[in-house]
Amino acid sequence: MTSDVSALVEQVARSAGDLPSAISLPPRSYTSPEFYEFERDAVFGDSWLYLCHVSEVASPGDVLPITVAGEPLVVTRDQSGEIHVLSSLCRHRSYPVIAEPANTRSLRCPYHYWSYGLDGRLQNAPSMDPAHRLADLKATYCLPSFPVEIWQGFVFTHLGDDPEPLWPTLERLAPEFAAHRTSEMVVGGGLVLKDQPWNWKNMMENALEAYHTSFIHRGYHENAPARLVEFLDFDPDTENGIMRYAPFLQEDGGFLQEDGKAAFPVIDGLTKEQRSRVVYAAVPPTMFVSMKPDSMMVFRITPDAHDRLTHSVTWLFPPATVQMPEFDELMAKLRGFFDVINGQDAEANANMFAGLSARNAARGPFSPQEATLPQLNGWLLRRYRAALRKADR
Ligand code: FES
Ligand SMILES: [Fe+2]
Repeated sequence: MTSDVSALVEQVARSAGDLPSAISLPPRSYTSPEFYEFERDAVFGDSWLYLCHVSEVASPGDVLPITVAGEPLVVTRDQSGEIHVLSSLCRHRSYPVIAEPANTRSLRCPYHYWSYGLDGRLQNAPSMDPAHRLADLKATYCLPSFPVEIWQGFVFTHLGDDPEPLWPTLERLAPEFAAHRTSEMVVGGGLVLKDQPWNWKNMMENALEAYHTSFIHRGYHENAPARLVEFLDFDPDTENGIMRYAPFLQEDGGFLQEDGKAAFPVIDGLTKEQRSRVVYAAVPPTMFVSMKPDSMMVFRITPDAHDRLTHSVTWLFPPATVQMPEFDELMAKLRGFFDVINGQDAEANANMFAGLSARNAARGPFSPQEATLPQLNGWLLRRYRAALRKADR
């Protein structure tokens, strides 16, 4: 490890811990290509990575390609219904075998037509004999397969060695997801925003903190004001879920309607408290969600470089909601609201990333309304330090 990366990691220590003494991350931890290369192993190579909801690969044969920090992966559901996460890089010469979501019986590499089953097993490799027998190739060349953990309806994978299970580290989040019955939800809409010009940590911070919602979202977020936000404890040594509650000013609240009420039917079985707040939660590095009394929005945040990421958005609803005759109209309204709010956040992220690249970039103190940020930094620091220790061995 270079001394520059090690020095930056030591500077990150000042960004974690007690809120009054913590300051924001060192600017070069966002802007340095070398630090991003370090994070590809330290963070993305050694954490559970959220990939999709089970309803995005609902049927046997469904395949969903997702690239996380330069690693092209594909989520598949095989004919027996089992979900796999595979490397999508062909074992012949590393061509990605699939570029777009599809329903298929096999994954055929576009380059020389090697083909694989949805469990990653090689099925065919044309014109390789007599140099190589197909049976030998089949025994040797399969798409690498990664562990799958399905938690509350969400598919996670891990690219590192022998990961500990994810679920015990999300116990603080589990009751909220269970109450919203996220494993039964279905997709009501989504979009993919490519080439977003900022660092992945800018995106996660913007999503996690409540402070900015009173200012850049002025006029749009008053139903769930930042001054009422409740923060929770977080232990970076044992937990992977960071959460805050944003109470609505009224029960069954929402952002879309004039009267401040939820636009879609409220989810069955929520408590009075759960009907009166938004739950904002992250499972870093790739998942951020907002759970409302009537629906859920999920971000998949996948960096493509130190200064670029892909932002995928999925809206999930109880199955009955998407069957409503007025669903499309309400979804269009939701999409319009998202475009405004996300436009404000995107401008902030881009401007902040540009600022962090300047010589006079700042490391400032946190508001109590940003309590989730030193928590996130503690989570990062733990991974950075573990990677440095591993590199030293
Ligand atoms: S790279 Fe895939 S078949 Fe050659
Ligand atoms: Fe925001």
